[in-house]
Formats: sequence, structure tokens, C-alpha cells
Amino acid sequence: MKVISSASPSSASAALEQPAFVVASAAMTELLAMSKRAAESPAKVLITGESGVGKDVVARYVHSHSSRKLAPFVAVNCAGVTETLLESELFGHVKGSFTGAYRDKRGKLQLAHRGTLFLDEVGEMSLRMQALLLRFLENGEIQAVGADQPQARVDVRVVAATNRNLDELVAAGRFREDLMYRLRVIHLHVPPLRERAEDVHALLRHFLALADRDLRFTDDALQAFLDYRWPGNVRELRNVVEQLVWLSVGGVVAVEHLPVSMRSEPRLTASVDHRSRVADELYDALVKQGASFWDRVYPMFLARDITRHDLRELVRRGLRESGGRYREVLALFGMSSRDYRRFMNFLAAHDCGVGVREFRDAASSHQAPAKMPPLYSVPADTRVQ
Ligand SMILES: Nc1ncnc2c1ncn2[C@@H]1O[C@H](COP(=O)(O)OP(=O)(O)OP(=O)(O)O)[C@@H](O)[C@H]1O
Ligand SMILES: [Mg+2]
Repeated sequence: MKVISSASPSSASAALEQPAFVVASAAMTELLAMSKRAAESPAKVLITGESGVGKDVVARYVHSHSSRKLAPFVAVNCAGVTETLLESELFGHVKGSFTGAYRDKRGKLQLAHRGTLFLDEVGEMSLRMQALLLRFLENGEIQAVGADQPQARVDVRVVAATNRNLDELVAAGRFREDLMYRLRVIHLHVPPLRERAEDVHALLRHFLALADRDLRFTDDALQAFLDYRWPGNVRELRNVVEQLVWLSVGGVVAVEHLPVSMRSEPRLTASVDHRSRVADELYDALVKQGASFWDRVYPMFLARDITRHDLRELVRRGLRESGGRYREVLALFGMSSRDYRRFMNFLAAHDCGVGVREFRDAASSHQAPAKMPPLYSVPADTRVQ
């Protein structure tokens, strides 16, 4: 049995600034060195990598090691916001320019003056927003929504991140090639955790230190932990450690204390198993314990504790149970029937809608519509993420 001690600091930890940036593997040591060099240059940086790998941590590291470190680091998430809101968030707006614009508001670009603007999930930007961003990158001018002309010129370094493959988006005509090259002057790719096993151990110790707990792992449990594929990457590891801290009996972690998906599952199926376990747990909370979707699942999705794959899997469970009827899914998931539109908008905005045909076919022999019920456009004043 191995004691994973919270007291022994990870020698390879590079926790120089908040948030901690734990690095042990060769790949991450190289990334850390590149991030340091990127920080010293004024060039724009694109950070790529799967969900939960630490893109945000890298972006903050670049800022806090740059000459701009005393100026603001301002983050904008480009996903899950309507185009108008994103434009207003970036460039500001003038009073009366759209419903709800009660007063003039400065945009994040202005707030980031002399500092760094972190454009998270930049691959989700609409083509029109991409054009506006490109124009800003070319002339540094800010034109607020509803204004006739540019009002200010700002000095901002842009660091962008995405878990999408921008080259593929460019090939599909969904991302501007010129913008991609402008953003990707320096490219930092954060590898998934499954490709850097050395970091798993170091991160385990780091998160235990944060929780101020020592845990004793049986050899099998530690092996399962190290072998796991970590589809949710560092975020998932952090969540698992938090669970173990609370659930392990007497500070001992045996295989049976690990989440089901980690217990010597074949590595290649771990991702699918993980997803169905998350969906099972959420489904139980909603259907058996009577929790409401808006109170339980929605905040987890916004905090990115669950992915859109998890959410789709959950919706699938509901549709299976209700024979493909979204309105019944609402009742199952503890929502009022008045929430139909809000729920459908939410699913549509996050690309989480699931077609109903297979569930209706399974439930009855009569013909069912082949597509999802109509989705509504997201109202301009709905900020969903
Ligand atoms: N190298 C690291 N050292 C310490 N903590 C880390 C490291 N990498 C990630 N984390 C932690 O893991 C969690 C997820 O990281 P982060 O938010 O940076 O991921 P991300 O790639 O931006 O995810 P997403 O694609 O969902 O935006 C955070 O709590 C972060 O502090
Ligand atoms: Mg992030």
C-alpha cells in the first residue's frame, strides 16, 4: 500500500503563481518552457487541447509571466452566448442599442487595456464576430454596439483557447483562415492527461495537498488510478480526488472506492463508461430523488463539471423513458411544462438536442416525425454560459 501524502510537496510542481501549474512529465515541462518564452514575447498565443487539460491555467500563466502582469487579465467565453451579447461583452454598447441596454457599458477589450484578453472557446465564434475580431486585431479600435464610429483604441494582448481543431473548422468554412493565422502566432498545445502519466501522480498529490489529506492507496487502486484514461482530464482528476477525500473509509483507498469507470475497465471503453456513469448518477438524482434539472444539472454544465456528451446522454435517458416525448422529459427532470421553450433553447444553444425518432419507434409502432421538435432561437438577452 502506498501513502500518497499531502504533506510531501511535489518536487516537480511549478506552482509559481495562482492558479498552481503542476508539471512533472517531459511533455508538460516542455510546454512550461514554451509558455515562459511565449510570456516574454508580445505575440498572440493560441492554446489548444481537450476539455479540462489546463488551457485556462496556461493562459493565466502566460499573462502572469509577461510584462503585462500588473495590468488586468480579462477572460471572455465565446461559447453559449448570443452574438449580440458577445459583441457587447467584447466591444461594449451604447444605451438603447438593444433590449436591456439601459446604460452605456464598456467592453472587456477596454477593461483589458494594457493587459491580456483571454478569448476562451474561440472556435465557437460566429463568422460575423470573427470578422469584427479580425478588424480589431488589425487596427486596435473599439466600436461599441450601437455606436456610429470607433470610440477608443486599446492596447491588448490576445490569448485564445479552443478544444476544437481550427484547421478542420477552416476546412468546413466555419472559421476564417486569416483569423486563425493571426491568433496562432505562438501555438501551445496541452496534451491530454492520458498521454502524460507522470502528471497524474503529481496532480494527485497536489489536489490532496489542497484538501490537506493523506490517503493510503492499495497497490491495485493506485494502478487503476494511473491506468485510467481520464476523459475529463485534470478537471475530472480533481473531482475524483475530492470525492475520495470524502468517501474513503479511514483514509484508505481501495479499488471499490474508485468510481466504477476506473475499476480496471479496458482503457479504450473508459470514456464511454464514464459518460454513462455520469448520466446514470444525474438521472437518479432527477428521477429518483426528485431534483430539478435547473438546480442540479444546469449549474454543473455551466461550471463544466459535465460535458455536452454527458448532457446528451442524460437527455437520451429521458427520451428513452418517455418514448421520445420532450414534454414528458420536462416532468421527469423536475421542470414545469412552462419551461419547455427554455429547455429546448438551452439544448439547441449547446448542440445537445437529441432526435426523437429512435425512441418513438421503440415505444410504438405508429409513424413518428423523423426530426426533433422545433427549436426556438435563443433570445438575445439569454446568457446561458
Ligand atoms: N497543470 C495543472 N496543475 C494544477 N491544476 C491544474 C493543471 N491543469 C489543470 N488544472 C486544474 O484543472 C481544472 C481544469 O483546468 P482548466 O480550467 O485550465 O482546463 P481547460 O482546458 O481550460 O478546460 P475547458 O476546455 O473546459 O475550458 C482547473 O481546476 C485547473 O486549476
Ligand atoms: Mg477553459
